[in-house]
Amino acid sequence: MSGTAVIGLQWGDEAKGKIVDLLTEQNDIVVRYQGGANAGHTVVTGGKTYKLSLIPSGIFYKNVQCILTGGVVINPASIIDEITRLTADGIEIKKNLMISGKAHVIFPWHEWEDALMDNTTTGESIGTTRRGIGPCYRDKMGRSLAMRVSDLYSDRFPARIQQIFHIKHEMLQGLAAALQQKKEFNEMQGETSAESIVESYTKYADILRPYVADTTNYLLDAVDKDAKILFEGAQGSLLDVDHGTFPYVTSSNSSGTGVCSAAGVPPKFLKNIYGICKAYSTRVGGGPFPTEQDNEIGQRIRDRGNEYGTVTKRPRRCGWFDAVAVRYSIRLAGVDAIALTLLDVLSGFDVLNICTAYNVYGRKSVNFPGSLENIRIAEPIYETSPGWKEDISGVRKFDDLPANAKYFIGRISELLGKPVKIVSVGPDRSQTIFI
Ligand code: GDP
Ligand code: IMO
Ligand code: MG
Repeated sequence: MSGTAVIGLQWGDEAKGKIVDLLTEQNDIVVRYQGGANAGHTVVTGGKTYKLSLIPSGIFYKNVQCILTGGVVINPASIIDEITRLTADGIEIKKNLMISGKAHVIFPWHEWEDALMDNTTTGESIGTTRRGIGPCYRDKMGRSLAMRVSDLYSDRFPARIQQIFHIKHEMLQGLAAALQQKKEFNEMQGETSAESIVESYTKYADILRPYVADTTNYLLDAVDKDAKILFEGAQGSLLDVDHGTFPYVTSSNSSGTGVCSAAGVPPKFLKNIYGICKAYSTRVGGGPFPTEQDNEIGQRIRDRGNEYGTVTKRPRRCGWFDAVAVRYSIRLAGVDAIALTLLDVLSGFDVLNICTAYNVYGRKSVNFPGSLENIRIAEPIYETSPGWKEDISGVRKFDDLPANAKYFIGRISELLGKPVKIVSVGPDRSQTIFI
């Protein structure tokens, strides 16, 4: 059994793209199985930076098959844009990309609803990427108004769009009125009509036709042949709709628990689980973040780590490494080995903090709280370790790291109870230390 999964252990942007790209060479197939164009994965190689949203980070290897499964939600315009951009950069995207006919399609009404609703979450806004992810997954679960990629090719497609557009228009008008956002809704909808959607989505469908395939049977055959398959997670475990900091999450199972259901492979096929975490923490959007440093420490991390969202360009909230939260994600996924990324960003701090436990209503706990309220009030208990001054971005061997950096890595490994096998000291493929 040869399945490997790469899972983000924090709130996303852990450098999954870089690690998937690094591990691709040892695999036959790379699978993106959940999420949509809310994800932004970066791969830096040969002095070039590639931004990926839907296309798996394995696309840079010619002989590797890349797959988007039925667990993904697809905005056809954004994947076409991605294919066009990559092709212009000389990356071949032909038969090496397969898109499941079961994947659900994002329509303009999903984006409109996302924008309307995100202004209204009681209290703090979720701060979604406004890519229509939540509304599309809700339609998938609700079934009646959902459309899969395969439906784009049905003779009934124009009639279905007429019907759904009418229903969505009425629903969203009512919603906008209730939210006192009629003007915003009318502006968003503009001249978009059922007819214009049929026209544009028919064009998209034609462009995407060569990629659409039965990825379920393809993957099951690959599992039977014991092919080497790498599963690329999007978002992070703490954004998981069931196991994350709900409702400040995304709308799919982005922790390790989601791989098999979304990809359509048997759980026992998964053999290696890589957990990816930064040497500190970041979060984009709303929701609790116990180790957040909304101060000059956070700003320093943001500046050094260039912590601005790949998709929305929002400044990422930054804070210290949270071993309680990461240990929870590790246990959920059954992580075997850790990739610790962006370690170079911490160079220059006199001291570094690691959160080893929470104080919740006066009680010390090493477990991530089960309720949002308790996560909100959890006070981090920090352990301090000495920093290092050296620039480590050129280091390629563990032994060549400053002693305090080695100590920091060792301590994180100890607290998490898992070996750190990869340390990333810069965005480029080459800026990697294998232990
Ligand atoms: P993903 O969503 O998990 O794939 O991560 P993103 O690509 O959104 O964010 C990670 C960012 O950090 C990207 O800009 C990467 O190029 C960059 N990056 C990756 N690894 C390192 C590293 O070790 N050091 C530094 N300084 N940057 C890194
Ligand atoms: P990658 O794969 C970081 C966050 C959004 C928001 C919440 C819900 O690059 O790690 P959504 O649009 O999904 O309904 O937004 O989830 N979010 C991410 N944060 N990295 C991502 O992806 C994210 N995808 C969604 O900021 O807080
Ligand atoms: Mg990202």
